[in-house]
Amino acid sequence: MKKMRKDVFNELVQKTLLPDLQISSEYSYDPVIVEASPSNWTCIGVGNYAAVFEHKDYEEWVVKVYSREPELVKKEVWVYEKLGVHPSYSELIHYEQNYLILKKLKGITLYEAVHRGIRIPEQVIKDVNEALDYARMRGLNPYDIHGKNVMMNHNRGYVVDISDFYKTGIDRKWRDLVKAYYKIYMPFFYKYNIHIPYFVLNAVRRGYRIYRKIKRKDILM
Ligand SMILES: Nc1ncnc2c1ncn2[C@@H]1O[C@H](COP(=O)(O)OP(=O)(O)OP(=O)(O)O)[C@@H](O)[C@H]1O
Ligand SMILES: [Mg+2]
Repeated sequence: MKKMRKDVFNELVQKTLLPDLQISSEYSYDPVIVEASPSNWTCIGVGNYAAVFEHKDYEEWVVKVYSREPELVKKEVWVYEKLGVHPSYSELIHYEQNYLILKKLKGITLYEAVHRGIRIPEQVIKDVNEALDYARMRGLNPYDIHGKNVMMNHNRGYVVDISDFYKTGIDRKWRDLVKAYYKIYMPFFYKYNIHIPYFVLNAVRRGYRIYRKIKRKDILM
């Protein structure tokens, strides 16, 4: 019997990606570092837990390899199963102990768009809001939605990372991002098409983390 394309791809992951892959993570709050990756595979993104790769012959899928806490794979699988299929999200194709194969979302993250001075249309924000409402309707809790976990393509918005939707509690990142979009981004960055260097974006990311910590203490006190 002829092997299915996704099985061939999975074999390729195991034979050509994983053996030569070196990923390290220094701090849990900073993105993982890809030290070495084999030919034909390209790292298209990193998060605090995983690195994501594509193969030149399979542009419809990506592989999300966890660098630590492989039990998080199971949680992400659970979230995808609960989410079902929706046009603003990726889809789970296959998973193993420490990686997932996901449908590739085209486009760029909002973080990248801000850096490159590519305008983020309001429709992108609306699409994401709608997508997050859909997730809530499916019994999930949209969590950890920030500029690197949201993408845009042809003026439409997509949610690229749902791995924390199993968590409980309120995460204000997306709400704060939307506020900043209307108050700061639209009247200033959008209007004058300003590029922001990575070091400034990362400083904002760090500053936001500290600000949230202080706010949390305020609430507790
Ligand atoms: N399905 C996908 N299609 C295209 N790009 C993707 C896909 N999944 C992830 N990426 C890219 O890889 C990056 C890292 O993936 P992801 O956000 O899932 O990792 P993470 O470690 O769970 O992140 P976080 O630090 O937000 O928890 C994303 O920001 C995005 O640029
Ligand atoms: Mg992410």
